Amino acid sequence: MAPAIEAAPLNELRAVLGNQIAVDAYRAGTQPFPDGTVLVKLAWKQTPSTEFAPATVPGAATTVQVMVKDQKKYAATGGWGFGRFIDGKPVDAAQHETCWTCHEARAKAQDYVFTRFAP
Ligand code: HEC
Repeated sequence: MAPAIEAAPLNELRAVLGNQIAVDAYRAGTQPFPDGTVLVKLAWKQTPSTEFAPATVPGAATTVQVMVKDQKKYAATGGWGFGRFIDGKPVDAAQHETCWTCHEARAKAQDYVFTRFAP
């Protein structure tokens, strides 16, 4: 859906995808996002292109982060459930407190979502 701006020097390439509910809500400017919205952030190591060294291409996948909207189930965290996969394996949900803390503190004005729609 949108490229992420690299803030921390993690040397990652990132992309954020949304399901149809998310895309429809973005297009219509619907806030808060409706139940059933799914946003997924993908990240890859930055790797120099073998064809053209100054170009950067995605290398190994690093983390996959997920946000799912369910007002009832995740009422305590703005209606958002957070999940993360590292090297393809799910990370214990008990470690997801930090996700909410940062999204709550910095993205409150947009229903705790940072990414803007890039058509
Ligand atoms: C220190 C702040 C911070 C923490 C902690 C954090 N995020 Fe984010 N998150 C961001 C920022 C900033 C973006 C915007 C895209 C980018 O820069 O990668 C983002 C983007 C996302 C997105 C895409 C939708 C959006 O809001 O733009 C998802 C999904 C996401 N994060 C999930 C998670 C999950 C799951 C965790 C915990 C495992 C987490 N985040 C922890 C700052 C944070």
